[in-house]
Amino acid sequence: MSKVTTARDGEVLIVTSDNPPVNALGAAVRQGLADAMAEAKTDPSIKAVVVRGAGRTFFAGADITEFGRPMTGPALPEVIDAMEGSSVPVVAAIHGTALGGGLEVALGAHYRVAVPSAKLGLPEVELGLLPGAGGTQRLPRVVGVEAALPMIVMGDPVPAKRALEMGLIDRIVSEDKLVEEAVAFAREVAAKGGNHPKASERTDKIGGTDQSVFNQFRQTNARRIRGFDAPEACIKTVEAAATLPFAEGIARERELFMGLMTGDQSRAQRHLFFAERAANKIDDLPADTQLLPIKKVGILGAGTMGGGIAMNFLSAGIPVVILEREQGPLDKGVGIIRRNYENTAKKGRLTPEKVEQAMGMLSHTLDYGDLADCDLVIEAVFELMEIKKEVFAKLDAVVKPGAILASNTSYLDIDDIARATARPESVVGMHFFSPANVMKLLEVVRGARTSPAVLATVMALAKKINKVAVVSGVCHGFIGNRMLAKRQEQANAMLMEGAMPWDIDRVMTEFGMPMGPFQMADLAGLDIGYSEAKRTGSLRDVLVESGRRGQKTGKGFYDYDEKRTATPSDEVAGHIRSFAEKSGKPQRTIDDKEILERLLYPMVNEGALILEEGIAQRASDIDVVWVYGYGWPVYRGGPMFWADTVGLENVVASLAAHRELLGPNFKLSKLLADKAEKGQRFNG
Ligand code: 3HC
Ligand code: NAI
Repeated sequence: MSKVTTARDGEVLIVTSDNPPVNALGAAVRQGLADAMAEAKTDPSIKAVVVRGAGRTFFAGADITEFGRPMTGPALPEVIDAMEGSSVPVVAAIHGTALGGGLEVALGAHYRVAVPSAKLGLPEVELGLLPGAGGTQRLPRVVGVEAALPMIVMGDPVPAKRALEMGLIDRIVSEDKLVEEAVAFAREVAAKGGNHPKASERTDKIGGTDQSVFNQFRQTNARRIRGFDAPEACIKTVEAAATLPFAEGIARERELFMGLMTGDQSRAQRHLFFAERAANKIDDLPADTQLLPIKKVGILGAGTMGGGIAMNFLSAGIPVVILEREQGPLDKGVGIIRRNYENTAKKGRLTPEKVEQAMGMLSHTLDYGDLADCDLVIEAVFELMEIKKEVFAKLDAVVKPGAILASNTSYLDIDDIARATARPESVVGMHFFSPANVMKLLEVVRGARTSPAVLATVMALAKKINKVAVVSGVCHGFIGNRMLAKRQEQANAMLMEGAMPWDIDRVMTEFGMPMGPFQMADLAGLDIGYSEAKRTGSLRDVLVESGRRGQKTGKGFYDYDEKRTATPSDEVAGHIRSFAEKSGKPQRTIDDKEILERLLYPMVNEGALILEEGIAQRASDIDVVWVYGYGWPVYRGGPMFWADTVGLENVVASLAAHRELLGPNFKLSKLLADKAEKGQRFNG
């Protein structure tokens, strides 16, 4: 059946696109829309046209799967021009999400109506692109430059109410009467006659735009857009809209769009779009796996992680009971949760009522018995196997049968923890990242006995609490921390060869990471895992013992002022030089290229080992872990995608060249070596 059908309601032609799940504007849909507009043009009994989407949404954009392939069928701008050029009025009837090409179609219509729950936006920038079907030129003409900039450059969508205020839509219609009221609206405007407004011809909102608005916008958003190509290109197109005739603006849009589309950044960002969605799928789970209901969550430990984890569920409206071993840490933890919510409210991002609503769903206890009726309990106590086992045995004894018992452990063996219970099928790892209420990643650690129902439930729950979940098998540090360890090893090794922490950190931040390994250590605290009993006299031990415990003590690898601005420390440089001397390693200047390769290629190699061992399901899952858990620059697509762009043969050649420096435990992945030899890639 055709993806686009037409039907008549008297003199109104109703054009319905039905291309599940999101009505993407693929070739067949574009052709169908073009045919429908031709029908309206040739049939004089048609006095107005309503364009709508069947199913859950209006068009959510161009079909991203077509990008990078030869184009077939009519191009989207042609279809949109045909709509705008129609002599009878065209009304876009919007529900769900009118995104990207979808909003551009709506802007090609003469009028737009939407239901209250609809959202409208141009998120192309998140794919490393700009709206390429006239959106950059029509939107500013319809809503003005200042309202258009955040929508186009930041990809911020607007709800229907705001869209009405800014003039993006003409009317809000009833949620359950979209078609009827859109048809009635179409009749109204057809009856009025006259010229129907064409966005491309409007100048009322852009005439006299103050040119300083663009630089101001650049400055205000400098941090958010740093490193990305697309936002600057987006700004340039809006500048074109404000200064050039429509046709010239469109030419500028096309030129900049093509530049982005063929670049590495957009390829990386498109890769991540699909990677994120693929990560949520577990290949060997039966499709009919029944989910377990999760109505109440228990959390063990109200420390750094426990508190943050609790907030995820409270914010999603799921009641939480939090348990501690003593009253002191319990009160402290609950206090921090409240303060976090109140701070968000102070910034205007949450109403005071919402704060109370969330806190009202939180109860606290020192008694394990209060966890009995939880559907899921997440443990976030100290990272020690004896304690984890003790706690899981206690949980097993009190929590109702069938409930999920999860651990937030960073490194420990989930199977070993599961053996402390009589229900290993209910045990799973839920590894959140710090701060747990902010970081999007959730590593779901699948134990040898974890049941399909438990896994499927946790994956679905992740979506509900707005996390991106990736499945990992059991190994020390799972996907993310296991790879991170390889980077840290090389960072430490290079300190002994002549590099300084700030050299290494700079190479990482210039690459696009939010911070380097030593800045990260200072933030986390150098004393994590430190104990007198376990001290080895390492550089880190010496720093901790001289009071340099990281940012919290005002000094770590760096010195910090009261605003937490870091400066390189002479004292640390001195310690490093004396350790380096003792190591007997030849001292030299290590150039940035070597620093980058020695930090990142061993990580890529570890990623390949992780794939080889079946710890990760697919290379793109590893990319998702690094983007959402460690701030890997989105425009580089994750370490495995990035390695593909570098060329796996180059990665292998560099690893071979540095073999002596990589340490005795370095093991080259066979998968990586084979792929390099055959000229293959990890992704596609
Ligand atoms: N093209 C192709 N497939 C798409 C798609 C698109 N534009 N948008 C979503 N899909 C697919 C997803 O890959 C997913 O497939 P899967 O089930 O096989 O994994 C399926 O549709 C459902 O998507 P989600 O899981 O994301 O569903 P949600 O309900 O969570 O979200 C959504 C729906 C908000 C529409 C979200 O899918 C989304 O943000 N989509 C992308 C929107 C976008 O970026 N549009 C701009 C495209 S570029 C463009 O229009 C260029 C133009 O200017 C020329
Ligand atoms: P934390 O020290 O801040 O908090 C642990 C809390 O557990 C403390 O409040 C302590 O009183 C409580 N606790 C200890 N034993 C208990 C018991 N038997 N019963 C109830 N409560 C008990 O530690 P943090 O950082 O929150 O770490 C917790 C877990 O999360 C660890 O397994 C850690 O590896 C993991 N993790 C930590 C991350 C981080 O960045 N801090 C990131 C991801 C995971």
